[in-house]
Amino acid sequence: MQNILEIENITKVYPGVLALDNVSFSIKKGEVHGIIGENGAGKSTLIKTITGAISPEGGIIRFEGKEYTHLTPQLSKEIGIGVIYQEFNLVPALSVAENVFLGNYSGKGFTVDFKEMNEKTSKAMERIGVRIDPQKLVWGLTVGHQQIVEIMRSLVKEVKLIIMDEPTAPLTKSETEQLFKIINSLKEQGITIIYISHRLEELFELTDRVTVMRDGQYITTLNTSETTMKELIKYMVGRELSDSYPQRQTPIGEEVLRVENLSGNGVSNINFTLHKGEILGFSGLLGCGRTETMQLIYGVVKKTSGKIFLNQQEIEMKNTTDALSKGIGLIPEDRKRNGAFLNMTIKWNNSIGCLRKKLMKYGIVVDEQKEIDLSNEYVEKLKVKTPSVNQLVTNLSGGNQQKVVVAKVMATDAEIMIFDEPTRGIDVGAKQEMYQLIRKMVSEGKSVLLISSEMGEVIGLSDRIVVLHEGRQMGILESDEFDQELILTLASGIEVEERGVRNHG
Ligand SMILES: Nc1ncnc2c1ncn2[C@@H]1O[C@H](COP(=O)(O)OP(=O)(O)OP(=O)(O)O)[C@@H](O)[C@H]1O
Ligand SMILES: [Mg+2]
Repeated sequence: MQNILEIENITKVYPGVLALDNVSFSIKKGEVHGIIGENGAGKSTLIKTITGAISPEGGIIRFEGKEYTHLTPQLSKEIGIGVIYQEFNLVPALSVAENVFLGNYSGKGFTVDFKEMNEKTSKAMERIGVRIDPQKLVWGLTVGHQQIVEIMRSLVKEVKLIIMDEPTAPLTKSETEQLFKIINSLKEQGITIIYISHRLEELFELTDRVTVMRDGQYITTLNTSETTMKELIKYMVGRELSDSYPQRQTPIGEEVLRVENLSGNGVSNINFTLHKGEILGFSGLLGCGRTETMQLIYGVVKKTSGKIFLNQQEIEMKNTTDALSKGIGLIPEDRKRNGAFLNMTIKWNNSIGCLRKKLMKYGIVVDEQKEIDLSNEYVEKLKVKTPSVNQLVTNLSGGNQQKVVVAKVMATDAEIMIFDEPTRGIDVGAKQEMYQLIRKMVSEGKSVLLISSEMGEVIGLSDRIVVLHEGRQMGILESDEFDQELILTLASGIEVEERGVRNHG
């Protein structure tokens, strides 16, 4: 098979960071080619040099035999390269078809032929076996469908290579399955795919070959059918990882939080107790009300009925500041919108939640040395890849931004931590570190409410698991009842009474 893309000696330098270090490898025409590597390894940077979003300091990109040293976004599009970034570039107030043709509509004269546009959009959808009303506003689409609109944008042009940077991170399970079908049909039509993901299982399902990057360098390319998860991880992290979860070291203590018939924000009658030193997991399908439940507890949204008890005292949570002052912290699911202040430094983000508590000198000024030390402590703990704590968060890689959000909340020393999808976008090695950290926190007497869509993670870390379905609580499982199938059954709304699943306490 001939190569469609050859990357030769590409180097990209940022202040204090060698993001790409003389990277060379090739992509074959018609293959699905995975790229993996730890957070900050240089995957997204490499993609951006191919799409012309940034220009490298040196190197050549050869596409279909033609050499390019300075690709621009325009040129890259023209020669047939399409990209799906993790943050979509759609205009919510426009229709599906208008978004598909945004910026590249070539109709007759100056008027837009909406009929033709809609038809072309429908045709493109047919090519990959999906059906969305082209006149529907993007505003009302699910994340999965928004992504399809992005894919369509490439398809209505003569696209030859589509690059996807962590496409499944925001998707539900069924949306992921649909995307995989689309990828396979694109492949059948001879379109080449570059696929980046931290979910290694996906690579085995989809790719023909996988390239591993580490610290800005090209490490190796392997035939997927001839490698194993273990081998990939070893190339990625440079060592072997154990796949076991850290075990509990201290006993579970007294009750710290209890909710009784908690309702509002789309959930009703939630009942559970959280104990000192406990990790209480929450499982369920997307939209089952896990995040919504946490928003009630954290004071983002006011409950309509029910009670919340903190250390046996009934409380009313007025707002999130109130929650923090009562010792509850939340690591939100959506780091871009609610998590980090992207245009501020790592240090600033790290201190903002604990200035008054930990970082004041004489009660009035910020102790800058303490601030730097604290920030360095967390950069080290979470292995944030950065030249210094003065780096702007926006300049960090996706996974490292996520770590900053986690650090920011951890630094508040809240007694109760709510983790909502803490490891999304985080590489396998860093996940292990995060698990160790969570385990350590509870060993030191903190308590954790953990939401995760990764079944292995909830089962591996939790002491008990609450399962929700459409805003209702289906049951609370004790650790000896943990079972993937049982959880999925409950999560899909099927009552399992004969197993004696408890639903309170
Ligand atoms: N605009 C920028 N300014 C400074 N440094 C940057 C900038 N963009 C990226 N970097 C650095 O370049 C390195 C590679 O980042 P990149 O985003 O390519 O990583 P990645 O492999 O995509 O990681 P992730 O899995 O976390 O998304 C990181 O150390 C990152 O901090
Ligand atoms: Mg990235």
